[in-house]
Amino acid sequence: MTTTSDSTSGFGHGKVILLGEHAVVHGQPAVAASIRAGVRAHASPGSGVISAPAWSMEVQTGDDSLPGQAIARLLDRLGTDPRSLDFWLETEVPARAGLGSSAALAVAVARAVAARGSASEADILAAASAAEAVFHRTPSGIDAAAASRGRLGRFDKQQGWQDLPLKTPFEVCIGITGKGHDTGALVANVRTLCDSTPVARRLIETMGELACAGMEALAAGDLAALARLFNLAHGLLAGVGVSSPELDDMVHTARAAGAEGAKLTGAGGGGAVIALAGDHGDEVLRRWRAKGYYGFLTTIGHPHSHD
Ligand code: MEV
Repeated sequence: MTTTSDSTSGFGHGKVILLGEHAVVHGQPAVAASIRAGVRAHASPGSGVISAPAWSMEVQTGDDSLPGQAIARLLDRLGTDPRSLDFWLETEVPARAGLGSSAALAVAVARAVAARGSASEADILAAASAAEAVFHRTPSGIDAAAASRGRLGRFDKQQGWQDLPLKTPFEVCIGITGKGHDTGALVANVRTLCDSTPVARRLIETMGELACAGMEALAAGDLAALARLFNLAHGLLAGVGVSSPELDDMVHTARAAGAEGAKLTGAGGGGAVIALAGDHGDEVLRRWRAKGYYGFLTTIGHPHSHD
């Protein structure tokens, strides 16, 4: 498809969670950053077709697919007839990989619709959050906030997103296992564990403390401290059952290649890892590739534009 003179477009960023995933669902703080890669949506007059060729996806607003349901909810929230527009999506982040693809999709579509009318930033975030609730049942809201903000921030459910100061932008390695996951199911599993085994809640609280310590490390520009927090967080996330053999392998491979810190990022259960590797970033990527994983370098802390 090509864009036409009556098409509008919008962008949503992918994200990485540095610290606090899962704990954030339980009211703890988390630290996340948007990444440059994301989803661009083009909206044009049509009949509700949503196509994302790179994800092999073609659905209809309001059909029984998750994206079809989620986008219908989003359009309803924005007061737009769900069958009045077609959406064509250019996707730079893999789907269901822990990099916030569904939130990036939702923000991109909301922005493309907003560009045809007068929705505010708050309307866009509310509509994207409504779509996220369809995708992930009980999301904390961190992915939608990161997708719409384009920078590094602190998020909790009470106060929402606050941009964080950062001494110097820094590079991280992002690794993709190639295994998809179901965020809603992983979140539900952690909740069940906390209900059946109350001591697990202390791990959740500790994850929140690690996120707070991470903010201090970021403010001081102390990447060695941040790396140690990554390693601690991965252990706790594995403890509540959201790691996987591939994620553990990628984490250990990164550390063996010289990364000072590595952890799963996002919901886990497949998905992605984040590693702080300093000068060893290329070596981390090389060793991941040799094992059949995919990875890339991205910079945390550059304010990305959002339109
Ligand atoms: C998913 O990117 C992050 C989780 O904490 C879920 C959420 O916050 O909604 C696992």
